[in-house]
Amino acid sequence: MGMGAGAIQGDEHIIDSLKNAVPNYAGYTYPFYDKGIPAALLCDGPAGLRIGPIRQGDPKEYWCTAFPIGTLLASSWNNEMVSEVGAAIGNEVLEYGVDVILAPGQNIHRHPLGGRNFEYFSEDPLLSGLMSAAYVNGVQSQGVGACVKHFACNNQETNRLANDAMVDQKTLREIYLKNFQIALRNSQPWMLMTSYNFVNDVHASESEDLLQGILRDEFGFEGLIVSDWGGGYDAVAQLKAGNNMIQDGAPWRLQQVMKALEDGSLSEDEITRNARKVLEMVWKTPAKNGYKYSNDPDLDAHAEVARRAGAEGMVLLKNEGCALPVSATESVALFGLSSYEMIPGGIGSGDVYSKYVASMPDAAKGAGMSIDDSLSDFYQCHWKKLHESGSLRSDRQRPLRPEEPEVPESLLRDAAAKAQIAVVTIGRRSGEWNDCISEEFYLRDSEIKLLEAVRAMFAKVIVVLNTGAVMDVQPLTEKYADAILLAWQGGSETANAVVDILTGKVNPSGRLPMTFPLTCSIEQIPFPVDPGDDINITPWEDQEIENVHYTRYSEGTRVGYRLWNALEEGIAYPFGYGLSYTDFSINDMTVRLRKQTVTVSVEVKNIGAAAGKQVVQLYSRRNEGDVNELRAYAKTRILAPGETETVEMEFPVEDLAIFDEDSCSWVIEGGEYTLSVGSSSVCMSESRVVSVKRHVRNVRSLAAPREHTPRHLVFRG
Ligand code: BGC
Repeated sequence: MGMGAGAIQGDEHIIDSLKNAVPNYAGYTYPFYDKGIPAALLCDGPAGLRIGPIRQGDPKEYWCTAFPIGTLLASSWNNEMVSEVGAAIGNEVLEYGVDVILAPGQNIHRHPLGGRNFEYFSEDPLLSGLMSAAYVNGVQSQGVGACVKHFACNNQETNRLANDAMVDQKTLREIYLKNFQIALRNSQPWMLMTSYNFVNDVHASESEDLLQGILRDEFGFEGLIVSDWGGGYDAVAQLKAGNNMIQDGAPWRLQQVMKALEDGSLSEDEITRNARKVLEMVWKTPAKNGYKYSNDPDLDAHAEVARRAGAEGMVLLKNEGCALPVSATESVALFGLSSYEMIPGGIGSGDVYSKYVASMPDAAKGAGMSIDDSLSDFYQCHWKKLHESGSLRSDRQRPLRPEEPEVPESLLRDAAAKAQIAVVTIGRRSGEWNDCISEEFYLRDSEIKLLEAVRAMFAKVIVVLNTGAVMDVQPLTEKYADAILLAWQGGSETANAVVDILTGKVNPSGRLPMTFPLTCSIEQIPFPVDPGDDINITPWEDQEIENVHYTRYSEGTRVGYRLWNALEEGIAYPFGYGLSYTDFSINDMTVRLRKQTVTVSVEVKNIGAAAGKQVVQLYSRRNEGDVNELRAYAKTRILAPGETETVEMEFPVEDLAIFDEDSCSWVIEGGEYTLSVGSSSVCMSESRVVSVKRHVRNVRSLAAPREHTPRHLVFRG
């Protein structure tokens, strides 16, 4: 009991029938049909439901909506919007006969080049936790389950199955567990997935400290804990630690369990404790409750949600001389391969089978713009050649985008004669299995060449970044672009959402959920994840490599803006930053401290000429010179020019606590704290000082972090 999908010998009939029902499912709970216990079906996430669209002998196609990736959702800073996306995803889960979506992913963006950052939300635990809760609440409002993942410290893809995250208790608690704590404070996901890696020498799924001590005892999590697919080495240790269900149920794991049951090293009580959790979850499912799913979710309605959510989270980084918005009747010249094949999302389990991906030419034409067809033909033709040549690499390999083709000068001149505005889309595709390499961070030579050619010919150059990861924007800011729109990857509707912003149909209100560093800075981050190809050439049998076999989190809590904002320089765009087509004032800050909750209210006024939304961010710091840390945020409704909204934000005083390793307690230092409201982590409008009483909350002490045991394990997958 509690074993999952895949290869349990002798049960092929179950597996076959499930495959026919929903191709590309990730797993299921083991059914006992004679006892009225069905299989609960588990499918990926997070940017939508991941099921195969084609079924043998069935002419019907089962497409899903590709929604915006996690980083885009987090850039919306709009919990309601994220819940709406979650609800639409949950509806597809329900109507396609699935029970749980293996999402959201909410690991911290420890390094800007983390391969799976696109699936996750932020470098900040609060934003990450609240986004995760909003997603879970949306999904579960449909009567299906969500599964937050990956607990904990799955912050790199390099050797993810065996990497040992060496992280001190303070950092673990304040950063890498905190986001889960906040998610669980604000939602009750049916499931939680443990991660592939070790944490301080103990596999995450085998850590009694993490699962029982933290998750159950401290965070009060009551749902089902599942291992990541194929993760962990000792099934018995997993079950003992409270990892209730083991996926993907390989026969050797079952054998380990059976043997331990026989020799008494695993008790029936221990099995029962885990099985109960599985059954409690199954009992809530549509499968158990006999829900008659339609196989026909309203994909048109969901496309509309995806488009709105996409535009809500895109971030306007630069807008020199009000280059944007442009008139919807304008002629534009579209450059860059990605303008003609938008990247909807990332690679791996977070990829969604959607029926279409809107293209920029269609989106622009749909909005009434005229585009240059010769340019369009040139790029379409180039794409065709690339596809036919088979030179595009497969998903499993490092997903470098093809080089930009050189646009013939005559074509450039013609395009510039017809249109004054050039839109250049630059694409990056990252994903599961590989961290990004610096080559993917920097602009490539062929991109620079294109930008130079376009800059020389056009009065206005708008750069659209269609990426899942942080990239180098400094040359764009300094030289090549009048406006930069960070479009992220918005799923099937990315192009339509981009055009909504370019034309001003939507006033951008996205804000960065992570820092964008300057060109020079990326190499200087003190914790480089650089897998390189060393893995293949190093004699790893007798040597362990830092950041492959083990990773020292020596930066401590200085993650993301907690590091960048303390440096003198190095930031291209700070955490929380984003422009609008209008301006806002934030005034009249009042602070109330009652019943261990801090409530801050401010007046937000639209002092510009266009209607728009503002994100108000509340930060705190203890001492002069400390970095401001995010405590709460709120997004206004659309404010007309001159209109004001009173915005209220609150947070529990306990969020001011820091973790004291010696006494194993959360300590709120008594005294004064400066609270500031602003429009980014470095741009504050008003501040107030609040006095707080000292408070100490002891928690169960965990085993002291163990030193890394060399295991010489390296996995590519
Ligand atoms: C990924 C999970 C995913 C699971 C099932 C794993 O490789 O890490 O995020 O949910 O596969 O597909």
